[in-house]
Amino acid sequence: MKSLLIAYHSQSGASARLAQAASQGAGTEPGVAVVVRRAWDAGVADLRVAQGLLLVTAENSGALSGGMKDFLDRTFYPAIADGLVLPYALLVSAGNDGRGAVRQLERIMSGYPFRAGAEPVILRGEVSEAHLLASRELGAAFAAGLAMGIF
Ligand SMILES: Cc1cc2nc3c(=O)[nH]c(=O)nc-3n(C[C@H](O)[C@H](O)[C@H](O)COP(=O)(O)O)c2cc1C
Repeated sequence: MKSLLIAYHSQSGASARLAQAASQGAGTEPGVAVVVRRAWDAGVADLRVAQGLLLVTAENSGALSGGMKDFLDRTFYPAIADGLVLPYALLVSAGNDGRGAVRQLERIMSGYPFRAGAEPVILRGEVSEAHLLASRELGAAFAAGLAMGIF
């Protein structure tokens, strides 16, 4: 059984809804147990027991949300010290852009020892049924990849 950590930060609830939908999608994969944690509450202990990481966050002021940045800052050295190497995926809730958050995460992950397991997904505007579907699909695809060991 593999474990997928979904860490999210959400101010107005949009990313939280996307994280929940991604969790539903990932939950359809029988070989994967899904753990959903607020980024503020998550730490390296959660990463140690995970085989994959899905980050769900807003783009704020052209960058990752502060809560998500805080999670990555706090876990950077401990993850390296523990030799953790996880596949990750990124889901961004944005008003009308989202590319700054993606760029910043890619920059962070050029030093963080994790590797991309899926293309980043940006969902713009109010949360819609299409957004929830895309989130479920990302969760399901990432979980299936984990279960198959393709990352
Ligand atoms: C302080 C702040 C800054 C924002 N900056 C951006 C931005 O640079 N680009 C963008 O596309 N949306 C921006 N937005 C919109 C949010 O990304 C969008 O509303 C998102 O769905 C919020 O998700 P959340 O409710 O999970 O925090 C900003 C929102 C806030 C509150």
